[in-house]
Amino acid sequence: MKWLLNGLLLLFIILMVHRNRADEDLVVAPGPDDDGEGLNVQDKDIYDMYENTQINVCGNVADGVYLPYVGNCSKYIECENNTIKEVGSCLDLAKDNPDICDPNKSCELGYDPVLQVCTYMEEVQCLPTCESFRLSSFCYDNTCTKYVLCYYGKPVLRQCHDGLQYNNATDRCDFPEYVDCVANDCSATFQPEDIIYLGSKASCSKYYVCSNGRPWEQQCAPGLAYNPSCKCCDFAKNVNCTIDAVARNILPYSRTPLRRADIKCPLMGTHFFPHKSRRDAYYYCVEGRGVTLDCTPGLYYDPKVEDCRRPEFVGV
Ligand SMILES: *[C@@H]1O[C@H](CO)[C@@H](O)[C@H](O)[C@H]1NC(C)=O
Ligand SMILES: *[C@@H]1O[C@H](CO)[C@@H](O)[C@H](O)[C@H]1NC(C)=O
Ligand SMILES: *[C@@H]1O[C@H](CO)[C@@H](O)[C@H](O)[C@H]1NC(C)=O
Ligand SMILES: *[C@@H]1O[C@H](CO)[C@@H](O)[C@H](O)[C@H]1NC(C)=O
Ligand SMILES: *[C@@H]1O[C@H](CO)[C@@H](O)[C@H](O)[C@H]1NC(C)=O
Repeated sequence: MKWLLNGLLLLFIILMVHRNRADEDLVVAPGPDDDGEGLNVQDKDIYDMYENTQINVCGNVADGVYLPYVGNCSKYIECENNTIKEVGSCLDLAKDNPDICDPNKSCELGYDPVLQVCTYMEEVQCLPTCESFRLSSFCYDNTCTKYVLCYYGKPVLRQCHDGLQYNNATDRCDFPEYVDCVANDCSATFQPEDIIYLGSKASCSKYYVCSNGRPWEQQCAPGLAYNPSCKCCDFAKNVNCTIDAVARNILPYSRTPLRRADIKCPLMGTHFFPHKSRRDAYYYCVEGRGVTLDCTPGLYYDPKVEDCRRPEFVGV
């Protein structure tokens, strides 16, 4: 009987220790009362995502294209010669041109990145904002290349490399066959008089018709596959389509319990560090708080670009 009790006690202790271990690895999401030790309010106010990055926000952006401004829907960025020409504000535009607004309406303007115009705020598709305590992400441009990662209310600009695309279903860079974003190919070949056909990157039987620079998804009849040479649906044997997207189960960062980084994070600023022992993971630190992030399976973290990429390009 005593032996049995001791055994149970031992088992209990082992279970407790084990549970504590597991808990230790998780980042406890702080509540709204958390005043953010190590983060002073002034620093929060002057934080500028666009100065806090090695990514060229205007890289590969055509002259005259305007980008939305993260954190303020009224502002926009004008790109020229692959650099930021100006950060402008629709509110200034309204101030300088009073007759731009309906005098009977509140002249609160926002920048609409899809239509590339300043218009009434309620008609604008503003970028999401970073929520105070969560880890989340959203697409920055329509090319599925640049994206924004948020933690503790701080946005950082990120970029996928080597033809990888940002997958909003997993919050990270992924192989194109799992994202199937063709928006960039559509707008790059934008000719109002032309109708462009694009094969899907995710499915042999799917394709897109680009019209006005936007892709519209089409599906071939069952058993047929899209054939780029005739721009039509064809018998599968006539099409060399080899898309190999096996089913996966990857939860987005935003819906996964956060795991604490087992390193000491700098108290100031946002930083990325390689994982101590895994090539397919990395640490993300925001003002002393660190989380461990996993790459998409098949990708490795590259400290040079501070994101996950195809193994053959890492360190090159
Ligand atoms: C957005 O920026 C404009 C111009 O700098 C400023 O006047 C306005 O208060 C800002 N809005 C918000 C919500 O921060
Ligand atoms: C872009 O840069 C090139 C060379 O750096 C320069 O010659 C050209 O004038 C610039 N164009 C504009 C519109 O600023
Ligand atoms: C503004 O409202 C007034 C009164 O409702 C109306 O008479 C006027 O025509 C309106 N102006 C415009 C530009 O809609
Ligand atoms: C991802 O983006 C697509 C297209 O914009 C949208 O339909 C979908 O709801 C988004 N998915 C998530 C998880 O946000
Ligand atoms: C498919 O690929 C094979 C081998 O690469 C090639 O011999 C064949 O001509 C291709 N067929 C078509 C329809 O493109």
